[in-house]
Amino acid sequence: MLPVVDKPAIQYVVEEAVNAGLHDVLMITGRNKNALENHFDHVPELEALLERKGDQARLQEVVRSANLANMHYVRQRDPLGLGHAVLRAQMHVGNEAFAVLLGDDLIDERDALLSRMIQIHDLRQASVVALMEVEPSQTHLYGIATVEATELDDVVKVTGLVEKPAPENAPSNLAVIGRYILQPEVFPILEATEPGSGGEIQLTDALNAMSAAEVGGGVFGVVFTGRRYDTGDRLDYLKAIVQVAASREDLGPELLSWLKDFLAKN
Ligand code: G1P
Repeated sequence: MLPVVDKPAIQYVVEEAVNAGLHDVLMITGRNKNALENHFDHVPELEALLERKGDQARLQEVVRSANLANMHYVRQRDPLGLGHAVLRAQMHVGNEAFAVLLGDDLIDERDALLSRMIQIHDLRQASVVALMEVEPSQTHLYGIATVEATELDDVVKVTGLVEKPAPENAPSNLAVIGRYILQPEVFPILEATEPGSGGEIQLTDALNAMSAAEVGGGVFGVVFTGRRYDTGDRLDYLKAIVQVAASREDLGPELLSWLKDFLAKN
């Protein structure tokens, strides 16, 4: 429930899904389930108070988070890895393609990554991952892809994936960032996936198997060059707050002029 300016980071992620046309959201949660459920629900006492005070602006914000999407929740219970978390969604998803959005990764709303991934999924009838170039020294933090070019500049065919390789073992510097469109064929593959990197059941390993054997149409990658913030990283989290605030009409101009002053003095 980490805030970015004045909304929890997770709300940006849900808004991103909704903006891409996805209105049914299943949250795979841990112990913070109650705070999440409350955030995306009505708060009758607060709404009545704001109504009485005639504070329409705040009232709209409160009602907006409750009406954003059809929210569902399931607890992961045992933290056995991202692959295990995705498997918890099987009953809800059934036999359809679905998107996975990792709550730590924020994609700037001006950069329409998820919509592009959905387009490529519809075109190829395959799973799609989001890829971003990273410094070679960073490969041990990500799933890293082996790719081949396609006729589209921003789309590659993924021929292999490895979770968190050391720089000397990384097949490229194209890292998987926290957005996926998955074919339902991923579920039986995940069920058969043994624990991998860090002793966890890795989504990367299941996708590697799907890319090699072209299961569910194989795997494609959309190469993203826009703005992404990892709120799990302290420096990136601060950058996210500054970038989001700087782009807002109500805060941007004053913040930028303060920042210029601040930089001049430091
Ligand atoms: C997870 C995935 C990894 C991916 C990353 C993106 O790792 O396992 O493949 O590159 O998210 O943020 P985590 O950050 O949970 O360790």
